[in-house]
Formats: sequence, C-alpha cells, structure tokens
Amino acid sequence: MPDKKMDDLRRKTNPLFNDRKLKLGTFCTNLDYGAAMSTIDGTLRINWPNTLALAKIANEMDFEALVPVGRWRGFGGKTNFNGPGFETYAWAAGIGASVDKSCVFATSHVPTVHPVMAAKQAQVIDHITNGRFALNIVTGWHRSEIEMFGIPLREHDERYDMAVEWLEVIKRLWTEEEEFDFSGRYYDIKKGYLMPKPIQQPHPAIMNAGGSEKGRHFCAKYCDIAFVGLASHHLDDARAQVDAYRKLAREQYGREIQVWTNTYVVQGQTEKEARDLLHEYIDEKGGWEAAENLVETMGLNALTFPPGVLQDLKRHFVGGWAGYPIVGTKEQIVDQMKTLSEYVGLDGLLLTWPRFEDGMREFQSNTLPLIIEAGLR
Ligand SMILES: Cc1cc2nc3c(=O)[nH]c(=O)nc-3n(C[C@H](O)[C@H](O)[C@H](O)COP(=O)(O)O)c2cc1C
Repeated sequence: MPDKKMDDLRRKTNPLFNDRKLKLGTFCTNLDYGAAMSTIDGTLRINWPNTLALAKIANEMDFEALVPVGRWRGFGGKTNFNGPGFETYAWAAGIGASVDKSCVFATSHVPTVHPVMAAKQAQVIDHITNGRFALNIVTGWHRSEIEMFGIPLREHDERYDMAVEWLEVIKRLWTEEEEFDFSGRYYDIKKGYLMPKPIQQPHPAIMNAGGSEKGRHFCAKYCDIAFVGLASHHLDDARAQVDAYRKLAREQYGREIQVWTNTYVVQGQTEKEARDLLHEYIDEKGGWEAAENLVETMGLNALTFPPGVLQDLKRHFVGGWAGYPIVGTKEQIVDQMKTLSEYVGLDGLLLTWPRFEDGMREFQSNTLPLIIEAGLR
C-alpha cells in the first residue's frame, strides 16, 4: 500500500501523522538523569511520579511523541548515567494509559525480545492508547547489556539481518488474518497467531535510528520514521544528511519517510544566561567519566576521531545524548527550530532539557506560544 494511504489511515488515531509542520516530542524521560550527564541540581531522578509528570506536561503541549531510550545498564562514573530506569514496553503501557494525546513509543532491542512477544506487547499498548503507539527498533551496540541476556552481540550488519526477520514476523502477526508459518535464519514460527489486531491500520508506526549504510537501508525500506543523529552541526551538512535519507527511501524503495532528530534545549532570559548554564552543567559539573565510558563502549576513540572532534562529541553526549544543541533566549530558540524545520528539512524534533521538568515548564509558558506564532505548529 502506498505510504500516503497508510499515513491517512493512521492519522485518525496517531498524532505522528498529523499535518503539523514541525512535530515535537521528548526523549529519554524513562532513565535517570534524562539526557544530561551532569551533577547540576534539577536533573531527572527516575521514579514513576517524575517520569509521569514529564509525560503529562508534554501531553498538555500536544507533543506528538514520547520516546524512551532502551537501556539495561548505565555508563558508570559518579552519575552512572542512565543506569536506573524503566523498561520501555511497560513504561509505554503505563504512560499511554495516563496521557490522551501524545504517541507513546517503546524502544525495543531486537535480540532481547522474541518477535511474538514484541508484537503482542505492542498490540496491548496500541489498544490501551486507542492507536497512539509506535515501535522504535534498535539493534543494540552496548556489549555488556546484550551479554546480560546470555546472548552474543552479533557483528554489526548481521544485527540488521536479524532485525529484518524480526520485523517481518511482527508485521505479519499484526496484519495477517490467517495463521502462518515462518522459517528464517533467526526465527522459526509455527502457526503464528495474534488477535485482536492493533488499532492502527495497517499496523502501528515504526521508527529506527540506523546511521550506518546497512542501518539506513533497513530504515528506508521498512520504517516510517528515521531518527537521525546529525553527524555534523553545520546546517548545510545536516541538510544534506536529511535530504540523503529522504532520497534513499524515495528513490530506492518508493517510500516517503519522516526524518527526526534529538536536541537539547538550554534557555535563558538572556543569551549569556543560557551560555552560563550550558557552561555550568557541562564544563563544571559534567559527568565526563560516563561520557568517556560511553564513547569507548561505542568504539569511538582517539584512533577513530581526531582529538578535537572527539572532545566535541563527548561534550554533546554530556549535554544531551549527543543531540543538536538549541541554546539562547526563547526568541533564539524559536529561530533555531525554524531553521531546523525550514532549512535543514526535519519533520520532528525530540527535545531534552538539563533540568527536565523546570525546562519543560518554562518552555510551555514562554516558548511554545512563540513557536505557534511563528507558524511552526
Ligand atoms: C537519536 C538516537 C537514539 C537512539 N536510541 C537508542 C536506544 O534507545 N538504545 C540503543 O541501544 N541504541 C539507540 N540508538 C542507537 C541506534 O539504534 C543505532 O545503533 C545508531 O544510530 C548507529 O546506527 P547503526 O546501528 O546503523 O550503526 C540511538 C541512536 C540515535 C541516533
């Protein structure tokens, strides 16, 4: 079925497919410290009331997406950044029952969940939310997380071969009326059956953050939304990256996909105040040991990057999960979002704040009205 028709069907229940020019969401509200590796006061301490409070504020603002991070252990240092946290399907079920507008995501590591289980859990959440669920597929890269399950971290490209089968089984369970057998390299399904079908037709929305060649093809061919980490923060480079992703889907697979990225927002009454906060939480109180461990786990080190570039990358990890920094007064923040939408060509931004709840409340009162006035929403 052409994607436009699929989007029209899902638009009835899922705000991801609405007509807003710039869609917004939150990222990483299910884990301790949120997206900021910092000992500054006011970062997210993970417990149910705190994660729920952030979801409710996002819902009040009509944010389209609540995207949790799939994480099984943290990154050490004095913050043990993202160590304590909530599993994402269960999180999405609880959050989905508590908010009535935003789409809730589960971020699922392929090898840790059997596809029958993944399809069935997704089906429940889609019913709980009356069609506001999305599945964010990640293949896993954090070796000690995957080894906790007693399974090997497969070679990079093979992870995506496994994901192709995993997703095929899930889509068939979601869409096929008849029972089916599936025999693949990784999965063997006898008389696959799932009822009732999810609310979203033909199936719930799917996101993926493939950045490699293999990952980008997986996303362009099978998913609805590409969640890109911008490789460069120069606007022309970012625009080329977004364009290339869209083109890959359109030209090689005849599909239209949305392209989103993650950002960290640091707002002040003046630009200086915003920059001072940035300096305080990153340079003075940053959890640099966790950042060091993270880039090492990812295999990014002085051998793969020149030292200046590596230091910059770590800074963005400390600041907000290596997102794009949006820093300044409320007016400057709106201008930057306008550029990301109109020049870079992004469909959606996931936002994080160092002081998550305070930042969101300030954004709700002062910044969102200007975003609407600017015609972005
Ligand atoms: C914005 C963003 C969010 C991501 N979220 C997660 C996550 O929650 N859990 C995880 O294990 N990996 C996550 N990843 C890693 C991706 O799944 C993927 O492995 C990475 O982008 C590299 O692409 P590749 O797998 O094609 O090499 C994320 C990546 C990006 C860019």
